[in-house]
Amino acid sequence: MVYSVYFSPTGTSKKGAETIAKVFSPDFKAIDITKFDSMPKDMSFKKDDIVVFGAPVYSGRIYKGASERLKKFKGDSTICIISVTYGNRAFDDALIELSDIVSENGFIPVAGAALVAQHTYGEIQVGRPDDNDVKEDTDFAEKVKSKIENGKTEKISVPGNRPYIKGDQGGKGGSFRPLTNDNCIQCGLCVDNCPEGAIAPDCRTISDKCIACFRCIRNCPMGAKYIDTPEYLGFAESFTKKLSKKLENQYFI
Ligand SMILES: Cc1cc2nc3c(=O)[nH]c(=O)nc-3n(C[C@H](O)[C@H](O)[C@H](O)COP(=O)(O)O)c2cc1C
Ligand code: SF4
Ligand code: SF4
Repeated sequence: MVYSVYFSPTGTSKKGAETIAKVFSPDFKAIDITKFDSMPKDMSFKKDDIVVFGAPVYSGRIYKGASERLKKFKGDSTICIISVTYGNRAFDDALIELSDIVSENGFIPVAGAALVAQHTYGEIQVGRPDDNDVKEDTDFAEKVKSKIENGKTEKISVPGNRPYIKGDQGGKGGSFRPLTNDNCIQCGLCVDNCPEGAIAPDCRTISDKCIACFRCIRNCPMGAKYIDTPEYLGFAESFTKKLSKKLENQYFI
């Protein structure tokens, strides 16, 4: 059986992991671990399963809350493909960290990808992953598939440092906090879907739980979640200018 397992607040890591998994089987099973209470009951995989892992880069690392969830999955020398998604700045040590997480838990990462996507903040690489990214991911997955069919299932090495940058401080969320306007109809969607349970039943953001993933802003059907503080707007503008040069996806087979 083929699986995609992803943590993906704004959906780009999901898209990457699912594009890759689809090449292995159009009937792959998606395991979405983004929501706070979303872990499945059975977290073990068989020797002949194939798992595609996907997670975003936060501060050059795998976000801590995601790595805690990912560490619960166990393989039985199960082949996997690892993918991290990043907002056109850098993926730093996130891919090697994901490789270590899965390797320590019974998986063999036979290929990896660092995929460029729209950044959570500002207007950076808006619309990515686009059609061209999907094509590149599909080509990559086809190459990995033939490599596996040819019996080449050894672990790959991916770039990064050990110890990872920022040590125990790595993989942190951001400091911006979404606001809620009067358009809110209390539908509960954001409350149910927040990765950290950081939205109170009355829809206010619980500041010390929020990781600034902006899932609530992207998905609110009423446009009721927003952020327009001078601090955010100033950061977004300068960050958008700083990261204007388009980066390419990188694949490791
Ligand atoms: C708190 C935080 C930290 C981030 N750190 C980085 C980073 O170090 N490098 C980078 O290129 N993008 C960074 N990003 C951007 C995300 O990696 C990017 O938008 C990713 O596509 C989000 O994945 P998702 O759509 O699956 O949630 C960061 C985003 C957030 C919210
Ligand atoms: S998703 Fe939007 S409309 Fe629904 S409860 Fe949240 S803020 Fe209100
Ligand atoms: S409240 Fe914070 S953690 Fe929850 S979805 Fe919104 S930005 Fe993400």
